[in-house]
Amino acid sequence: MTVPSKKLYIKTYGCQMNVYDSGRMMDLLKPLGYSLTEDASTADMAILNTCHIREKAEQKVYSELGRLRDHRNERRETGNDMLIAVGGCVGQAEGEEIIRQAPYVDLVFGPQTYHRLPEIIEKARRKRALSGEKTYQRTGVIDTDFPLESKFDLLPATTFSPISAFLSIQEGCDKFCTFCVVPYTRGAEYSRPAKAVLEEARLLVEFGAKEITLLGQNVNGYHGEAPYSNSNAMGPWGLGRLVQELALIPGLIRIRYMTSHPRDMDQDLIDAHRDVPALMPFLHLPVQSGSNKMLEAMNRKHTVSDYLNLIEKLRKARPDIAFSSDFIIGFPGETQADHLATLDLIREVGYAQAYSFKYSMRPGTPAAAMDPQVSEEIKIKNLCEVQDFINQKQLSFNQGKIGTIQSVLIDRQGKQVGQLMGKTEYMQSVPIAASADLLGQLVDVRIETASSNSLAGHIVSRTA
Ligand code: 5AD
Ligand code: SF4
Repeated sequence: MTVPSKKLYIKTYGCQMNVYDSGRMMDLLKPLGYSLTEDASTADMAILNTCHIREKAEQKVYSELGRLRDHRNERRETGNDMLIAVGGCVGQAEGEEIIRQAPYVDLVFGPQTYHRLPEIIEKARRKRALSGEKTYQRTGVIDTDFPLESKFDLLPATTFSPISAFLSIQEGCDKFCTFCVVPYTRGAEYSRPAKAVLEEARLLVEFGAKEITLLGQNVNGYHGEAPYSNSNAMGPWGLGRLVQELALIPGLIRIRYMTSHPRDMDQDLIDAHRDVPALMPFLHLPVQSGSNKMLEAMNRKHTVSDYLNLIEKLRKARPDIAFSSDFIIGFPGETQADHLATLDLIREVGYAQAYSFKYSMRPGTPAAAMDPQVSEEIKIKNLCEVQDFINQKQLSFNQGKIGTIQSVLIDRQGKQVGQLMGKTEYMQSVPIAASADLLGQLVDVRIETASSNSLAGHIVSRTA
């Protein structure tokens, strides 16, 4: 039987986990005859895979929905149609509210229910047919319950494998940092069984992946069921054990993981940084603030010195390791002294890279009700200071690589003709003038120039 061909448009917001989930949605809809389009105006089905972490991310969704509605109206004039879907964390958090604000949305689903997409789409189609196609009738189907079954067990293995691939191994969070919606939108911590992770990793490598980034909201809290019956006696595998095993897959030359919580960096994982050369010497380890008072109010359950001790242990285990972090600026109650403590911590660690965000009040989180909220003016001023300082650190880290030879994995096409892009072990982008046959190769590059965002140089030899 041939399936009619239909166009699918997916726009992804937010974290890498959403990027991964969007890939799974494509896998799931392919058998229904959908193929991808980058042009929303030609889509039979449009999905916004959304992010709820900060207010700005949420607002973008509503303006994009307006654009999709216009496209749908144009399509209807030519006898075509479009199903409009909102998935991801805004879907989870807002459910009904989306249909209320944008009644033309056909379906809303959460990050835990997209494996039921074929079924939800069918439901939406039927509802739409019954409603007689009235554009503004509220007919949207909402499916955001946390299901009993694990979506991972029901999804087909992916056949979409870039050179640098993501693999989701853990989802959800039980940490309840007081600013964060993730425990509410992604639910409780769940770890995939190690066997399923290893199988998917082997498949990704078979289809061409050279680098795998293990994903999870709290990835180092991983505790997946052990794969062999004789190892069950020793309980679930932690991330350190999993990394050791992944490193045995022939052809997999780089392993990374994100995002980690300082409290879950156990000795096994620190040892893996010492013992596993494929585990990259670059770690995203968010600290959020350099002030103990703020860390406590954020419910991070560690102090600045706990964090610095951890950094030291990791540096002992892997002397060439570099760090990145996230910072929240203007958390309720943050004073000038707390802000200066954050700058001190940035100075002390000397991050290779870091992200900083103005605190964004999220409905339903404990911090939203805390006093006093910091004024927008101070948030902006302090954010600028933090970002300038981080940029300086980033630039000096990058400039420190000038004259050295860096191992670069060429993992994608560049924007210009004849240009490929690669990444160093430290995630620095490196444009390379080379022909496409170097894609997927690991090369040594002598670094000649550096900016705060990238390095450039010449290939001196191929290493694999
Ligand atoms: N406001 C600002 N930043 C936030 N983050 C999470 N929640 C909020 C919020 N309410 C940031 C944290 C986290 C990153 C993914 O997003 O720094 O590590
Ligand atoms: Fe959010 Fe904190 Fe969990 Fe990270 S650890 S997902 S910041 S609650």
